[in-house]
Amino acid sequence: MTLDERQLKQRLTRFWDQEARSYDPVDGRLSGAAPAWRAWLAEALGPTPLSVLDLGAGTGFLTLPLAELGHTVIGLDQSPAMLARLCAKAAARGLSLTLIRADAEQLPLADASVDVVISRWLLWLLPHPARAAREWRRVVRPGGRVLALSSIEAYPPAPSGITGWARRQAGLALSSLAERRNAWHWRHEGQRIDAHLPLARFDMQARADKLHALRYGKLTDLRIDPLDAINDALGRTRQPQAFRHRLLTGGDGRSYFYALIARRRREDDDD
Ligand SMILES: C[S@@+](CC[C@H](N)C(=O)[O-])C[C@H]1O[C@@H](n2cnc3c(N)ncnc32)[C@H](O)[C@@H]1O
Repeated sequence: MTLDERQLKQRLTRFWDQEARSYDPVDGRLSGAAPAWRAWLAEALGPTPLSVLDLGAGTGFLTLPLAELGHTVIGLDQSPAMLARLCAKAAARGLSLTLIRADAEQLPLADASVDVVISRWLLWLLPHPARAAREWRRVVRPGGRVLALSSIEAYPPAPSGITGWARRQAGLALSSLAERRNAWHWRHEGQRIDAHLPLARFDMQARADKLHALRYGKLTDLRIDPLDAINDALGRTRQPQAFRHRLLTGGDGRSYFYALIARRRREDDDD
């Protein structure tokens, strides 16, 4: 089935609206690495307070520590449910943030209006990553940086055949009960949406493709930094997955995070 752009964005928003309900508990499993994330953000952005746009902010994984580090942060997301959670978490921590419900591929922001554009786990969700990168370059000031954080996920292979099928059904049944939603429906919906997203893979090739997306956005000084301290901390502190997720994935895996880092040229008015 082909979807037009509006339908695809609507379905992505609905998908993440319902993911918002269980997003933090799943992510909490990885929270032992929070100090390493914070240290990396502090080093990557430096001590001077900056204006930072966090795209696909979700429940605030980057938004909240960035605000705590003293930056002026805009959290932007398409999902009202994600933004509601982020808003509640910011209020509980006494943080003041600007939250915007908008599409990261079409930003309601003025040219050159922020110092840094950052995102984590967003590029793979974009139907038009190169178009999005051009938009990010537009809103970042000349000399400002674009950081897109992503990961390669390594899971043991899930059992195949009838055993694999039975495990999946049990995992989906338990997920439906625990998360009070039809896990079969949302799993298929996620797969249907992914089929329309050019970077929706977590392998080495996708890593290179994501870098290219930034290049076609006419950003410059591109590099990939592996986030070693974070990956080490995750290896040491990662909690086991919930049983229902183990049934669906084949077992506990590892995430290897990396940052795609690019810059808007200072003298770029003529390109
Ligand atoms: C995997 S979550 C990542 C959330 C957060 N950045 C984190 O690292 O935990 C992806 C988020 O991107 C949002 N998103 C997906 N496509 C988007 C788009 N085109 N514009 C804005 N937000 C989008 C989703 O609503 C979701 O909150």
